[in-house]
Amino acid sequence: MKVLFIGDVVGEMGREMLHDYLPKLKREYKPQVTIVNGENAAGGRGITEKIYKGFLSDGVDVVTMGNHTWDNKEIFDFIQDAKKMIRPANYPEDTTPGQGIVYVKVNQVELAVINLQGRVFLNDLDDPFRKADQLVNEARQRTPFIFVDFHAEVTSEKQALAWYLDGRASAVVGTHTHVQTNDARILPQGTAYLTDVGMTGPYDGILGMGREAVIQKFLSQMPTRFEVPKIGRKVLSACLIELNDQTGAAKSIQNFMINDDRPFGGDF
Ligand SMILES: [Fe+2]
Repeated sequence: MKVLFIGDVVGEMGREMLHDYLPKLKREYKPQVTIVNGENAAGGRGITEKIYKGFLSDGVDVVTMGNHTWDNKEIFDFIQDAKKMIRPANYPEDTTPGQGIVYVKVNQVELAVINLQGRVFLNDLDDPFRKADQLVNEARQRTPFIFVDFHAEVTSEKQALAWYLDGRASAVVGTHTHVQTNDARILPQGTAYLTDVGMTGPYDGILGMGREAVIQKFLSQMPTRFEVPKIGRKVLSACLIELNDQTGAAKSIQNFMINDDRPFGGDF
């Protein structure tokens, strides 16, 4: 089974990049499942129903979220019906709308996709490690194919979860920091790991935001409003993971970016 994961889609330029390149990526790499992190898709803050549906019609199977899940208030109107969208599973269970795990049918089997959020330098949600235990145990009753998007700030927390789940999850892939890391590997018991997939959107901004405002903030130390640029050069950041069709263990993981410096069609 091949799984394509596209990192944090930021604003209109990110959505355009996904729309333009997903068909080409599917033709070239033939993934059976495509997962996209969409928590920054609406102008950098949350997601709307129209954008969610646009992702699905572009060929996305699952949309994952993160700490910006609730930024666009429209989400409260459609999250319960958005069966292909998951938000971090470690939000308090009894008070949080939506779901943190979803199963995607691939021929005769299923891929479980789980979204979790880290707690270091982010909101103090429930323990993602114990939540991972619960959900992975639950998922393994149904399938050995288990993908985790761990939306977290610090590398140590991401590495810790990956090692904690080694041999139990097929892949643990990090999102949120918006810069692709170069540490894709398969852990000894078969879990594919990448600290951060990186972002999809403006290439010449700072983490996807217009760079002038960010520079100004550092210069002035005053409150500054960040905006996502709507024109300019773009980047798509992703990784492609192949799983053993019997065991669900990872066979390969390859991170890549598409931008002016690394045009599509070149070598990884
Ligand atoms: Fe985030």
